[in-house]
Amino acid sequence: MTTLDRIAKLRENRVVALTAYDYPTARILDEAGVDLILVGDSLGMVFAGNPDTTSVTMEQMIYHTSVVRRGVRNALLVSDLPYHSYDTVREAVANAQRLVGAGADAVKLEGGVAIIEKVKAILASGIPVSGHIGMLPQSVHREGSYKKKGKTAQEAALLLEDARVLEEAGVFSMVLESIVPDVATQITRAVNVPTIGIGAGSGCTGQIAVVHDLAGFYPWFTPPFAKPKANFADQLRQAAQAYAAEVRAQA
Ligand code: KIV
Repeated sequence: MTTLDRIAKLRENRVVALTAYDYPTARILDEAGVDLILVGDSLGMVFAGNPDTTSVTMEQMIYHTSVVRRGVRNALLVSDLPYHSYDTVREAVANAQRLVGAGADAVKLEGGVAIIEKVKAILASGIPVSGHIGMLPQSVHREGSYKKKGKTAQEAALLLEDARVLEEAGVFSMVLESIVPDVATQITRAVNVPTIGIGAGSGCTGQIAVVHDLAGFYPWFTPPFAKPKANFADQLRQAAQAYAAEVRAQA
């Protein structure tokens, strides 16, 4: 199946998307039939232990994209352009090409109207792009905290405008992060590309989750919208304790 086939397939059903940062996780998710696997810059937090995503580098994204690529055969593999990797149009295109060189089928970058020239340039270079609007983790320092978006009519109108310009530019999907559910539903109805929600209610075309939140593998912080389906942290802790007890008993 080609990248274009995989993108077309996203329109057939609700999109099931998860992040992955390493080979075994990527392979397991791919074998489980996930439609879209994102090498998210959330790796800066749940993989590397940083307080936010703003310190993630292109080199890190390239490395994680290359290892995830080895595990993905069926899903669409999307990689995030990290903070400051698309400050100019030229950098946006060059860094998107580097992610594709590492194995990404498509790239994602945060913003709408404010970054539209960069989105258009990446698309013009032949690389598929996913948009990402709403709460933008890379803007956390500028915003001061992680804030739900779309609470006022003015904010909702700006989000709708972001969605419209992204669709017009030609993105194949857009992530709607931490948006008031009614507004996310309105955006989903207004655009003709799949919307992939996280903390944006069930009115989106599909959903994305950070795999550590799904697996219960980052117990120190669970976003309010996360729905853990396993408890890897406890299981690994218990396995380590059982192993420690076994080793210490061998005297
Ligand atoms: O970096 C990431 O994991 C993301 C998702 C939360 C959408 O952008």
